[in-house]
Amino acid sequence: MQDYNSLKQDYKFSDEEAELLHNLQEKMQSMANQFVDEFYDHIWGLGKTAQFLKDKEIISRHKEKIRLWYIHLFNGTYDLQYFRYLYKIGETHVKIGLPTHYVNSAFNFVRTFALRNLEENFEDKAQHIKEILAVEKIIDMNLDVLTSSYREEELSKFLSLSKIEKTILSGLKKFNSYVNFFLAGALALVAFFAIGLFGYDIYLLFFSDIGIEKGILTVLGSLLVLWAAIELIHEEINHLQGKGFAIGAFIMLAMAALIRKILIYSLSADKADDLLIIGAVIVGLSISYWLVGSKKDRSN
Ligand code: HEM
Repeated sequence: MQDYNSLKQDYKFSDEEAELLHNLQEKMQSMANQFVDEFYDHIWGLGKTAQFLKDKEIISRHKEKIRLWYIHLFNGTYDLQYFRYLYKIGETHVKIGLPTHYVNSAFNFVRTFALRNLEENFEDKAQHIKEILAVEKIIDMNLDVLTSSYREEELSKFLSLSKIEKTILSGLKKFNSYVNFFLAGALALVAFFAIGLFGYDIYLLFFSDIGIEKGILTVLGSLLVLWAAIELIHEEINHLQGKGFAIGAFIMLAMAALIRKILIYSLSADKADDLLIIGAVIVGLSISYWLVGSKKDRSN
């Protein structure tokens, strides 16, 4: 854990501010129950809270711990023991796999709750500003320590690797990003060819003996492929920006290409066997698409 004295120095946290917080303890402690209720209202609105606070026993234990933590915020004594206690909270959260986002959001609530209640009935403006600064600092130091466990967990995973492993990992990451950019370029090329296909189908419609019905269906099919290719490019852009990659877009492109074939073959009687096979493949792809979609919904 980072030296707690240097942490206090970095936040320019003074003994006077510690004293100010201690003087606020009585007032803030009288609101502890209200704090816990509102804290829970806030975190319960975060997507998967119930997955972490699984049952009544854990919830009531956590509520009590939150209450004590809140009262300790205004303890006035911020020594090694206090920062060890904060660090342990962070470790527990890392152990249960709680995303940092939840902790950050909870802290945003803590900040607004404390400031909102400080606002009420203050007498001396200069003193009030000092109190606000002290509260902001203790909240920020708490957040700093609670999230440092997350950073250390990441760092320790990296540090535990040997030099060769680190080099391989960094090399692989670089290679992966080059391949992704190559893929984005290749997809742009596919979209470009799909536009060409669309143009060619228009040409066939007007300047060949393909017939109006088949011609229009062919044009529709190539538009479908173009649309699916654009979807795929959109997914790849998301991926390059650090979001997940939806394999569903690939399945959609394959379905679009097959539907195009069905549109064209549906007009010729001698393609009945091909139509049946393509139909079966489309059904298979639809099931895969549905499975991928429902898995994604469950993990959201
Ligand atoms: C201001 C933010 C938070 C503070 C100060 C805090 C405080 C604590 C404390 C003091 C503990 C006990 C640590 C130990 O005994 O080792 C704990 C554990 C835990 N926290 Fe938090 N917590 C916060 C946010 C959250 C959020 C947002 C969630 C869930 C969405 C959460 C879920 C849990 C769970 C599941 C445990 C383990 C409970 C158990 O099994 O006893 N915490 N937290």
